[in-house]
Amino acid sequence: MVRETVVSPADLIYPLFCVTGTGIREPIGSMPGVYRFSADQLAAEVKEIQDLGIAGVIVFGIPDTKDAVGSSGYAEDGIAQRAIAAVKDAAPELVAIADVCLCEYTDHGHCGVYAGGQVRNDETLPLLAAAAVSLARAGADVIAPSDMMDGRVAAIRAGLDRNGFDSVPILSYAAKYASAFYGPFREAAESTPRDGGDRRAYQMDPANGREALREIELDLAEGADMIMVKPAMAYLDVIRAARERFEAPLFAYQVSGEYSMLQAAIERGWLDGERAIEESLIGIRRAGADLILTYFAKDYARRVRR
Ligand code: PBG
Repeated sequence: MVRETVVSPADLIYPLFCVTGTGIREPIGSMPGVYRFSADQLAAEVKEIQDLGIAGVIVFGIPDTKDAVGSSGYAEDGIAQRAIAAVKDAAPELVAIADVCLCEYTDHGHCGVYAGGQVRNDETLPLLAAAAVSLARAGADVIAPSDMMDGRVAAIRAGLDRNGFDSVPILSYAAKYASAFYGPFREAAESTPRDGGDRRAYQMDPANGREALREIELDLAEGADMIMVKPAMAYLDVIRAARERFEAPLFAYQVSGEYSMLQAAIERGWLDGERAIEESLIGIRRAGADLILTYFAKDYARRVRR
């Protein structure tokens, strides 16, 4: 009766990894219980997600060809574009969010154009805008840039507006930290930076809380409609600070490493899975997030609807 915080399936977004080919539903080694799907296998999956009352999905594409400028990320028939179309076709009520980044599509694995040992921020912006437009054309309801280039929200907004997608909102990964907790995702999405590089030039220093608020403020000024803090568990203070300061819908991403470490302990019997999963989600909501992107969305929704 006096419970302050509730997590409902309608507060959750489920991430989907999509590959080319047909008939594929391939387990991801580092993320037990999570699969890579070919577009034809998505229909059954997203119908189930919709029936569970989950708010939406966020789609990540894993192409079979990569190049220096990530062309497969903004091809009209790219894997993410086809996956978005398949999701909307099978589950029209589910919100289809398209992640926009180049790291899955570049052969060097960086989130932007990479030359002379550096990521070229400004050269990357038109490519991100092209990716956003092609995903909106495929049917994406929301565009979610995760690349962390400066100025990308404005560039994507302008690109969408110029192409007739002025009503497609932007969910900005505004405060995204250079985190060790993305490890399993990079295996899942084959997006680990080559040559031993990392993303510390464009993702944020985990030590900086105030900087997150500046990053969010800039993205909102550029036209972001919704904002995200990522990862979640090690950044609950940032979620709380963002909640207090900004009115925009606030998302938090419980990332792959958070999922995998809980799953590993649950598999060994070291943690009570039901309780640990619920507690981790409640903590993120209590900190102030409106919605949570989580690989536990289906597990959790199944349990509370039982
Ligand atoms: C793409 C992207 C990443 C994640 C979401 N979008 C990886 C990264 O920045 O390295 C991580 C999600 C997760 O770990 O679950 N840039």
